[in-house]
Amino acid sequence: MVKSDFLIIGSGIAGLSFALKCAEMGTVVMVTKKRDVDTATNLAQGGIAAVLEEDDSMASHINDTLLSGAGLCDESVVDLVVSDGPARVRELVRIGVDFVKDGATTSGYSLGREGGHSHRRVAHSYDLTGREIERALLESARATENITLLENHIAVDLLMVPEACGSNMGSRCVGAYVMEGESVEPYRAKVTALCSGGVGKVYLYTTNPDIATGDGLAMAFRAGAEMENMEFVQFHPTCLYHPQEKNFLISEAVRGEGAVLVGRDGVPFMKKYDPREDLATRDTVARAIDSELKETGEDCVYLDISFRDAEFLMKRFPTIFNRCLSRGIDISKQPIPVVPAAHYMCGGVRTDRNGRTSIPGLMALGETASTGLHGGNRLASNSLLEAVVFADRAADYCQKSWDRLQSFELPDVDVWKSGNARKLSEEILINHNWDVIRRTMWNYVGIVRSEKRLELAKKRMAVIFQEIDQFYHEYIITPNMIELRNIALNALLIIQSAMERKESRGLHYTIDYKSLDKHPHPTVFKRKMNGQKWQIDMLEC
Ligand code: SIN
Repeated sequence: MVKSDFLIIGSGIAGLSFALKCAEMGTVVMVTKKRDVDTATNLAQGGIAAVLEEDDSMASHINDTLLSGAGLCDESVVDLVVSDGPARVRELVRIGVDFVKDGATTSGYSLGREGGHSHRRVAHSYDLTGREIERALLESARATENITLLENHIAVDLLMVPEACGSNMGSRCVGAYVMEGESVEPYRAKVTALCSGGVGKVYLYTTNPDIATGDGLAMAFRAGAEMENMEFVQFHPTCLYHPQEKNFLISEAVRGEGAVLVGRDGVPFMKKYDPREDLATRDTVARAIDSELKETGEDCVYLDISFRDAEFLMKRFPTIFNRCLSRGIDISKQPIPVVPAAHYMCGGVRTDRNGRTSIPGLMALGETASTGLHGGNRLASNSLLEAVVFADRAADYCQKSWDRLQSFELPDVDVWKSGNARKLSEEILINHNWDVIRRTMWNYVGIVRSEKRLELAKKRMAVIFQEIDQFYHEYIITPNMIELRNIALNALLIIQSAMERKESRGLHYTIDYKSLDKHPHPTVFKRKMNGQKWQIDMLEC
C-alpha cells in the first residue's frame, strides 16, 4: 500500500505549487491520470493577473473582480487574493517562470489586458504563459526529492474512514483509490488535495484538454463534501471555429490588443450589448455572440485584428498566429472565425480561506475549488492567481498544523474489491453515453438556459446516469468508464444547481427569470444519504 504525508491529485499549477511547499514538510505523492503536462494550465494563454504597475491599484483589481463576479464574490477572499498577487508572481519568477519583460513599464514586465480589467495587469509569456509556468514548476518538482510524481495513475474515489466529530460520527479522508493499468490500490495520506481541474468535457465544445472530466468534483461530492455554485460554467467567447480544431483558444488578450468582434458582414456588434464593447466581461461577450449566432443563423462570428501588422502579431501571439496560419487563416490579413466554448468551472468543491473542504483531511485547490473568489463569473486571468495564492495558504495551514498532522496514525483501509465484475466487451456503450451527455449539456444547459430545457436535460441525464452507475458496478472499471461516471455526475450537479437558481446572474442566464434576485446567495449543496445510497434530488444511487 502506498503511504505518504500528502497525496495530490492533479499536476497543474495548483497541484505543483502546493507540492513544492508540502515537500518541505513531508513526503508528497502526486498522481496524474495522463502525462504530467496534460493539464489545463499547460493550455492557458492569457496569463496571471496581479497589481504590478505603479498606476494600477489593489482597489481597482478588487473592484474589477467584484464587478465580474456579479454580487457573489466573497469580498474578504477577493481582498486576500488580490493583495497576495504580486508576491506570488515574484515567487513564480524565483522558481524560474520567464514572464515577458518590458523596460518601459514601472514593474519591468510587459502587461496584457483582458475583458473586465480596467488596467493592463496580466503578466504573460506571450500566448504560452501556461506552458511556461507548467515547465518551470514541473522542472522544480522533478528535482525535489520528497516529491514522487506518478503519471498514468487515475484516482477512482476517495478513501473515507469514520471519525468522531463532537458527539456525532463524521468521516475523514485518508487518501484515494488509484488505478494504474488494471490494478486499483489504496493510496493513503494524512492530507489529500484535489487539484484535478475543471469539467469542460461535460460540454460538446470546450477549450479544455481531454483530462477535464471533473474527477475531483465528482469524487468530493460522492464522499459527502459541500459543493458550491456549480451552475456557473464560464464559456470563453472565442474558441477557433475550424473543422480540424477541437479546442483551440483565441486568447482574450487578443481583444486586449484591440481586436474587434464582427459578423460575416464585417460590422462590429459588441456596442449593441455593452458600453465596454469588446472588453466587456466574458459572460456578456459570450451571450452577445450566442445571440448574434441565433439571430443570423451563422455558424460563427469573427475576431478581427488584421489592422495590426504581421510582425507584431507573430511576436505577441506566436501560437495563435502559427496555428491559424496552419489552418489557412492569416490573422494579419483576415478575421478569425470563432465560437464560444465551455472554458472554466467557477464553482466547485467549497473551501475555506485555507483550501480546506468540509471533509477533514481533504483540501481542494485551483479550478476544482470554489473559494469565493470568482462568484458568478471569473475575471480573466484570475484563475492562475487563485491557484498560487491558495496553494500557498493551504501549505501554510498544513505547516501550522504540522505537529497534529504528523502524529495522526493512518488507519488500515479496505483493499479494492472487484467482486464478480466482468470485462465490458462493447466500448460503444461507453462512447455513446459520452456523446449524449456532451450534446445534451451543450443544447440544454449552455449559455442561455430555460426551466423547460433544464427539466429535459435532467430527465435524460438521470436515465444515462443510472445506466452508467450500473456499468460501474457490473463491469471491471477502466479509465474511460471512470471519466464517464464522473462527467455524468458533474452534468447532474450542474443541472441541479442551475435549477435551484431562480434568477439570471453572472454566467447563469435563464429566459424564465431574467432579473436579479434581491439577495445574492451561493448555491450550496451536498449529497443526501438514504441508507447506503445517496441522492441528488429525485435520483438515487
Ligand atoms: C485567455 O487567454 O483568454 C484565457 C485566460 C483565462 O481563462 O483567464
